[in-house]
Amino acid sequence: MSANITLTMIKPTAFKNNCTGKILYKITEAGFRVVAMKVTKLSKEEAMKFYEVHAGRPFYGELVDFMSSGPIVAAILEKENAVEAYRELIGATNPAEAAEGTIRKECGTNIGENAVHGSDSDENAAIEASFFFSQTERF
Ligand code: CMP
Repeated sequence: MSANITLTMIKPTAFKNNCTGKILYKITEAGFRVVAMKVTKLSKEEAMKFYEVHAGRPFYGELVDFMSSGPIVAAILEKENAVEAYRELIGATNPAEAAEGTIRKECGTNIGENAVHGSDSDENAAIEASFFFSQTERF
């Protein structure tokens, strides 16, 4: 079995609403192994850098302001086909369109405040994991 990683963030609204425990329970119940995890807060500059792929999009400013507005949980998760498996667990970007039982359906507020981030490719997972964690912080 080959294990892959994905990077998740529990976003400010979900953290503030005390959804962290429920989200981590769903993650571990789904068979992901937590490789690294921290509570942190992004500066505006860090949020701009993390989401720079979206820099030209109309929602970029709003996204950066929101993601730097409060504490988040960042974590590296490991599982076979982690990126795809996690995207299935979290559901569609817009919580209103997410399938029943998914994290975004149960914990999301709207398309911007959609509870969690999940990497969209193995390549981005590696980049995003390195954004938050050094090798010595991974177990
Ligand atoms: P995430 O998985 O963190 O990756 C990029 C984020 O941009 C996405 O989740 C959404 O929260 C946000 N996003 C995508 N589309 C929109 C939109 N139309 N309006 C506001 N935010 C959006």
